[in-house]
Amino acid sequence: MREFVIKPVRSRENIVAALRGNWNYPTAVRFGPGRIAELPDACKSLGLKRPLLVTDPALAKLPMIADALAACRAAGLDCAVFSEVQANPVESNVTNGVAAYRARSADGVIAFGGGSALDTGKAVALMVGQTRPIWDFEDREDWYTRVNMAGMAPTIAVPTTSGTGSEVGRASVITDTRDHTKKIIFHPRMLPAMVIADPELTLGLPAQVTAAVGMDALSHNLEAYCSPSYHPLAEGIALEGMRLIHDWLPVAVKDGSDIEARSHMMAASLMGATAFQKGLGAMHSLSHPCSANLNTHHGLTNAVVMPYVLAWNRPALSEKMQRLAAYLNLRQHSFDGVLSWIMELRKTIGVPETLAKLGVTMEHVPGFARQAFEDPSTGGNPLPMTVEDFAQLYRNCIEGKLHATATH
Ligand SMILES: [Fe+2]
Repeated sequence: MREFVIKPVRSRENIVAALRGNWNYPTAVRFGPGRIAELPDACKSLGLKRPLLVTDPALAKLPMIADALAACRAAGLDCAVFSEVQANPVESNVTNGVAAYRARSADGVIAFGGGSALDTGKAVALMVGQTRPIWDFEDREDWYTRVNMAGMAPTIAVPTTSGTGSEVGRASVITDTRDHTKKIIFHPRMLPAMVIADPELTLGLPAQVTAAVGMDALSHNLEAYCSPSYHPLAEGIALEGMRLIHDWLPVAVKDGSDIEARSHMMAASLMGATAFQKGLGAMHSLSHPCSANLNTHHGLTNAVVMPYVLAWNRPALSEKMQRLAAYLNLRQHSFDGVLSWIMELRKTIGVPETLAKLGVTMEHVPGFARQAFEDPSTGGNPLPMTVEDFAQLYRNCIEGKLHATATH
């Protein structure tokens, strides 16, 4: 009897053809290498004629932006660029973007870049239709109902890193410079109407950035998975997101030109942000004050605090970690198996071991602990947290004490 064995051939052509799809969940996503060529068509499908492309100053100088602009203009679109976007964006970035949008009578936003550019673009699209200040739309109670939805601009999101997943998020994180806190600006319609997820746009990312943003994606999937609320849809997405990161993040860091690894990391990033509608937790609570006050990289900070937070939450996570370890096929199907994997992964991809190495000192602890307690992510943590708990966790992260816990 003849046996038919289908051997996958890992050629570039096969990968590009296979890792491609049109998804309608959680929004319209055109996924696959080379799909950026569809940007003009995406604009037309949303009825845009005069889009404002929002990006950061470094990207604005790269050929990928020049190429996107040229393609849009060749298709008859009157497309302009706004690039006053800083890392950890602030209110003035949004205000100036709104002014640029109005000055040229734009009719939509192309948010193009990493998390900062995507968040700024989404916030500009929200604020062009509002008269209230941006802080009135913080993610508290039912404040999103204050939004004048009719004035919101349609948005196309084009991610160029694989980490924040902001392209499928319903919020923007903007730093309030009055009190150095990161605030979440939220409205369900801030979810971009369309995403072009082209992994080729991430091929040029340096290894360090690939590692840091990849760990942000891991923190989204992991915190969503651990968050105790009932949301089996999100939990399933988070599990598969972590499997992709387990299998492919070390490859993407080692060889940035590997389009298969880049594709799976882009999907995992999008999945993390889809899953974290379920909730985040203390990793993000600890990380936000560091970035807001010391401008540390968000993903890198999450990567540093990740094992300390996991160890802290251990009493609530034993069964979930067994399931995760089994799914990832780790050496030990247990909490310790997951913890060892994360410690090894951090080492392999070059993440510093303590917050001290990011410039966080004991003097920062009391203030940061209060901010962390107030952070909206805190409510999703598997264990309830107090200000003193956060202070202890910060001390653990600064001193590198994995198993020191305070109150339980
Ligand atoms: Fe994050």
